[in-house]
Amino acid sequence: MAHVWGGIIREYLDHMPFAEGDPIVTLGEGGTPLVHAPTLSSTVGAEVFIKVEGMNPSGSFKDRGMTSAMTQVVKDGDHTVVCASTGNTSASAAAYAAHAGLTCVVMLPVGKIAAGKMAQAIVHGAKLVQVDGNFDECLDIVRDLSERYPVALVNSVNPYRLQGQKSAAFEIVDQLGDAPDIHMLPVGNAGNISAYWMGFKEYADAGLATRRPRIWGVQAEGAAPFVRGHPIKDPETVATAIRIGNPASWDLAIAARDESGGWIRAVSDAEILAAQALLAGDVGIFVEPASAAPIAGLLAAAAKGDVPRGATITCTVTGNGLKDTATALAGREIEPVVIPVDVEAAAAALGL
Ligand code: F0G
Repeated sequence: MAHVWGGIIREYLDHMPFAEGDPIVTLGEGGTPLVHAPTLSSTVGAEVFIKVEGMNPSGSFKDRGMTSAMTQVVKDGDHTVVCASTGNTSASAAAYAAHAGLTCVVMLPVGKIAAGKMAQAIVHGAKLVQVDGNFDECLDIVRDLSERYPVALVNSVNPYRLQGQKSAAFEIVDQLGDAPDIHMLPVGNAGNISAYWMGFKEYADAGLATRRPRIWGVQAEGAAPFVRGHPIKDPETVATAIRIGNPASWDLAIAARDESGGWIRAVSDAEILAAQALLAGDVGIFVEPASAAPIAGLLAAAAKGDVPRGATITCTVTGNGLKDTATALAGREIEPVVIPVDVEAAAAALGL
């Protein structure tokens, strides 16, 4: 019989802090495609694979961490969850809370959330609070709230989040047959880079991979605290998902970078948008701007001669492009042709 995917907790139960019989909250997250990108591969002189995390139920990698965080919330008997977000965490938390019958409160920087993500929080019934501040300030508030009131924090400072998110590293190894030489991903609040490193290490330690990859993280130039070496007060970038100046998982991200022999670099907004267009036009994958950052970083590294020839490189693209169509379409000339209901007119319009 065909294997029916059970979500990342059931699929990787031996590596998760849960047991058979636990009340697993799942929407079937994980099991996302790893797509070979032949044109991009020849451009950079390596074998490039794209891990398409926008295929998760709420359209981003956050679902991997939310299934585990919410399962623990239900085990603990809590009824209300809270998070700060640049949009994807709130979308995912709202969806999983709806599924589990929990109340969800989301704290968002006003005017800086892509329309699709805002719609998700609303349709899933979250209580929406907009803050006249940035993500870092929203996170300060919800951390305080969760210490002083009976609400469970589901940002990635909750250790159950990283436990779920590490499953993407397991999948990459399972899909490739071993760990890649290099793994690339965008870095914002730095939970995901920490989770991937944990996952790659755990799999190698368990004998399920023969090696660990180098981790190459990519930030947006205007929101690049790891590249600057210190927190940034007023982060700014077109990639609103990673508009973060004071990442919570600072030490874990530095450890991922240094233990793996990798790096964290920055790319400009223009490079991010060009990489987004390239992924859509050449690979066939529509991602949101933040997700294009690793591809921009890969192209920049290749231009500097820093990509080892023939290396296997996996890149996580973290969120679905449909969440933020406004940014994707900005600056594009769109002139739709309208014709009468007539095949000849269609042929003429197409120049056939
Ligand atoms: N890519 C996307 C699409 C994201 O939404 C985020 C983070 C990141 C990358 C960075 O991941 O924070 O683990 O380093 N979004 C969070 C949110 C902050 O609230 O949705 P990270």
